[in-house]
Amino acid sequence: MKALILSGGKGTRLRPMTHTTAKQLIPVANKPILYFVLEQVRGAGITDIGIIISPETGEAIKETVGDGSRWRAAVTYILQDRPAGLAHAVKTARDFLGDEDFLMFLGDNLIQGGVAGLVNEFKSSQADALIQLKKVKDPRQFGVAVLDENNRVTRLVEKPKEPPSDLALVGIYLFRAAVHEAIDRIKPSWRDELEITDAIQELVSSGAKVQANVLQGWWLDTGKKDDILEANRVVLDEYAKLQIDGEVDEQSAVVGRVEIGAGSRVVNSIVRGPAVIGSNVRVVNSFIGPYTAVSDGSLLENVSLEHSVVLANCRLQNVGQRIEDSLIGCNSKVCCLPAGRQALRLFLGDDAEVVI
Ligand code: G1P
Repeated sequence: MKALILSGGKGTRLRPMTHTTAKQLIPVANKPILYFVLEQVRGAGITDIGIIISPETGEAIKETVGDGSRWRAAVTYILQDRPAGLAHAVKTARDFLGDEDFLMFLGDNLIQGGVAGLVNEFKSSQADALIQLKKVKDPRQFGVAVLDENNRVTRLVEKPKEPPSDLALVGIYLFRAAVHEAIDRIKPSWRDELEITDAIQELVSSGAKVQANVLQGWWLDTGKKDDILEANRVVLDEYAKLQIDGEVDEQSAVVGRVEIGAGSRVVNSIVRGPAVIGSNVRVVNSFIGPYTAVSDGSLLENVSLEHSVVLANCRLQNVGQRIEDSLIGCNSKVCCLPAGRQALRLFLGDDAEVVI
């Protein structure tokens, strides 16, 4: 079995972050989301992995993931020249996939417990496709499936105004080669994309057996700022451990599950887990609260920070108010003017957002 990870797209909902990086490379608990996806694919025993990349961010993905040897897997990069839909991505990968069964996984999605169970269910079944579903509050923003009493899919619809069920398609699918002919038969949708949902509906309509598995654990779809913060919270909750490779002075307190990387120093500060601090970070006279991830090389001085993600090489200094629910891009500076000055001095990238 092969795997196809989709890591293209422009990440418009994560601007300005995605002006300079791919959305799949934004770190959650200091690790790119795509690394978690690769671990989950590898955890299902799949070593032949194709990654779909876009012209805009493909080079960054290649540089970060390399040849896959880090996961003891072989990675093949496949360029999708435009964001023409998930089924178009499968079409683009036709040569790589051949006639083999494959797992398709959206590179900015994560599910609790990985995909080994789902892959095994598919291997031992007679199904032509197996899709992962999850009950959601607002299904209108997803693909939605209707099932019969045996979890067989009877109908699918992409982003319905009036959802026929509350079961959303998580971005994880298993296919046999029959999907390629189904893709050849579908037409672009109203958003001018070849939708994988339509291809699966085509399979259902032609009498193929499409089964579903309804996920009980968490599902993270990290396409927007708040989704990244939520993913960070959930992943820290589940995976953070107490590991201090840096230095913590006697005036400081590190409480709960906190990871501090090599070369980092915590001086006269409180760090309350679950939280993760990368390497070569300095934390001085500060409070770092739960659900916070600070990437390598940043300086935090006289600040209070909670439920936030700070990327590499930032400087946060002398900020009077608590910083919370924030996603701060690489090399950013946040500081206060000398006492008495009531002014804001801003130098913000395109699509930045400041809430005061
Ligand atoms: C895509 C799929 C949709 C699925 C969603 C999961 O939507 O088309 O069926 O529910 O991923 O994240 P898109 O991200 O393209 O809007």
